Amino acid sequence: DDVRLWGGRFADGPAEALAKLSASVHFDWRLAPYDIAGSRAHARVLHTAGLLTADELERMLDGLDRLEQDVAAGTFTGTVADEDVHTALERGLLERLGPDLGGKLRAGRSRNDQVATLFRMYLRDHARIIGGLLTDLQEALVGLAEAHAGVAMPGRTHLQHAQPVLFAHHVLAHVQSLSRDAERLRQWDERTAVSPYGSGALAGSSLGLDPEAVAADLGFERGSAGNSIDGTASRDFVAEFAFITAMIGIDLSRIAEEVIIWNTKEFSFVTLHDAFSTGSSIMPQKKNPDIAELARGKSGRLIGNLTGLLATLKALPLAYNRDLQEDKEPVFDSCDQLEVLLPAFTGMMATLTVNRARMEELAPAGFSLATDIAEWLVKQGVPFRVAHEVAGECVKECEARGIELDGLTDEQFAAISPHLTPEVRSVLSVPGALASRSGRGGTAPSAVAVQLGEVKADLAVQ
Ligand code: ARG
Repeated sequence: DDVRLWGGRFADGPAEALAKLSASVHFDWRLAPYDIAGSRAHARVLHTAGLLTADELERMLDGLDRLEQDVAAGTFTGTVADEDVHTALERGLLERLGPDLGGKLRAGRSRNDQVATLFRMYLRDHARIIGGLLTDLQEALVGLAEAHAGVAMPGRTHLQHAQPVLFAHHVLAHVQSLSRDAERLRQWDERTAVSPYGSGALAGSSLGLDPEAVAADLGFERGSAGNSIDGTASRDFVAEFAFITAMIGIDLSRIAEEVIIWNTKEFSFVTLHDAFSTGSSIMPQKKNPDIAELARGKSGRLIGNLTGLLATLKALPLAYNRDLQEDKEPVFDSCDQLEVLLPAFTGMMATLTVNRARMEELAPAGFSLATDIAEWLVKQGVPFRVAHEVAGECVKECEARGIELDGLTDEQFAAISPHLTPEVRSVLSVPGALASRSGRGGTAPSAVAVQLGEVKADLAVQ
């Protein structure tokens, strides 16, 4: 039996090699529930346009219901011969309703507008799933920040000790970038709420169908496509989705890299929970941060999905070209990867043990309070250029003596500069340095508390 939707003008069926190349059911089958929803909406506008009687519509919807149940139960599946999910489901409908009724549904639609619509529906659902998983991670990070509210750590630039910061401030920095990713998903979803159904193959339909009704039926808040060529040919919504998922991967990889470093013997800032770390097959003592490493690794894969997709789209003439069938696997993969990665990552972060003593021991090390000396001098009226120089002299003196800044005596301070009175010691403590950075967005406990409140309020509405 010929299942092709286009056999009429062909004397022979496709070569086996072509059928194998062309087939997409093995990856586009996941669009089946969306295809059936689209078919229901399409049947209704066929009825409204007078192309299906009320009785035919009723039997059509019943056939689609039965097909949906069989798809869900796994008793109806697509095959290589079906070419794609749309063809397979049409075969399923014909088997259930017979050719006379079943053959009426295809009027006024094309796989080109179908696939563009279903793909949007699928990705919109997964944008919400991924958004929910991101919220879980943000909440875990907020929990980590709150549980260690007063803990200081060395803040770094160039991976070198720079200035002490609150651990909570550092963790919340990651929450901020994840919030922007979540916002990107929401804004993408709004932009993608336009239905290409009704665009037909590329030029629209002569059958008087109502694309706006289909759009409303399928939950596209912004209505139907304003241009049928764009409706069937554009895939920037896919590329943008691939970018956002890649960006999420990259943001995770930056947290991951820090967890990996913090978890080394040398740092000893954190300990991973047994349930969220792995062992070695040969070295009995090992406890490895595999979740963080997989996050780091998968971020490369997510970038690859984006760049592969962009390469497919580059210079593609309008309207539909079969190249576009290559648009699905990359982003399906991006969804799959994030949907397994995020729950594991969240578990790892939620169960992290923080070594407060170690972080606070290192917070003032590496002369990380040198800026505080300079800024203290500025408050005494010394120009910053001079103050920077004087604080630098203090560091040089300490390096020569093998001590930290607070190890300098009053006499040694005074010898470096007369401006360095014993009162300078007031800023040579980590709590003092932290508390002094109390402006908006700073690392003072009071400022971090404000930030935490804002982040939590945002999460509540996200
Ligand atoms: N399976 C195709 C895709 O994913 C849709 C079918 C369009 N095929 C066609 N020959 N016009 O893009």
